[in-house]
Amino acid sequence: MDNANISGKVVVITGASSGLGEATARHLAALGASVVLGARRVERLQALVDEITGKGGKALALATDVTDAAQVQALVDAAVGRYGRVDVILNNAGLMPHSPLARRKIDDWDRMIDVHVKGVLYGIAAALPHMQRQKSGQFINVSSVAGHKVGVNNAVYAATKTAVRVISEGLRQEVKPWNLRTTIISPGAVATELPKSVTEPDIAQGIGQFYEHYAIPADSFARTVAFAISQPEDVDINEILFRPTRQEL
Ligand SMILES: NC(=O)c1ccc[n+]([C@@H]2O[C@H](COP(=O)([O-])OP(=O)(O)OC[C@H]3O[C@@H](n4cnc5c(N)ncnc54)[C@H](OP(=O)(O)O)[C@@H]3O)[C@@H](O)[C@H]2O)c1
Repeated sequence: MDNANISGKVVVITGASSGLGEATARHLAALGASVVLGARRVERLQALVDEITGKGGKALALATDVTDAAQVQALVDAAVGRYGRVDVILNNAGLMPHSPLARRKIDDWDRMIDVHVKGVLYGIAAALPHMQRQKSGQFINVSSVAGHKVGVNNAVYAATKTAVRVISEGLRQEVKPWNLRTTIISPGAVATELPKSVTEPDIAQGIGQFYEHYAIPADSFARTVAFAISQPEDVDINEILFRPTRQEL
């Protein structure tokens, strides 16, 4: 992969301890980016930092719960403190506890709203002042196929992923004065730990089978992130929706 416009960039990634965030950290670091990794499982982040730096890459990790605005700010500030700037924030942390609304899984609803909606907003709040000062930067916010259409059992997940797209489009329109880029990436089924976040056993079983059959490797996502970043600064890839070729949903 061409590393045009990636090498030397400072990229903050939330949810970097597994799945899409982890694969993207590896991919971008190999292309010469400095990656700054946030998630709650800090030992997994540290292992990834060790792996990347062991190969000559640049990486830093900080325990971050994206439902806490101060922790997200600390993550972005750590990137600026260590590397002098923040070029990209990948607001990626997430979970997928699908269930019918009638089961009243209010804790799951709250967590999805907190991580997907507030977490993305906190990422924007943390990085925006730095990017305004720099007059350059890129927000990449992770939505989903479910941000494009709702189905049974995923009303709250789909609502929060739709919110990610709405917030991103509003942001896109507002950040023109500072020359900032905004990208929404909406994946279909990609093999990660996401199905483990389903809390209802019967639903987890169905989703597990679906992912086993359909899911594609996580570097599919990492390549879309690299594509969006690698464009020349006057090209803003606003939205990418991709699925496994065999996924109908
Ligand atoms: N895989 C797919 O098929 C798919 C499809 C569409 C969209 N997505 C979206 O892609 C994103 C990444 O998911 P994934 O598939 O890579 O799943 P994953 O392997 O389960 O990774 C989720 C990541 O989010 C982090 N996270 C969860 N809650 C967090 C919190 N409160 N604070 C900080 N980090 C938190 C987790 O880290 P810790 O637990 O260590 O905090 C983990 O690193 C999610 O937004 C998901 O909705 C995935």
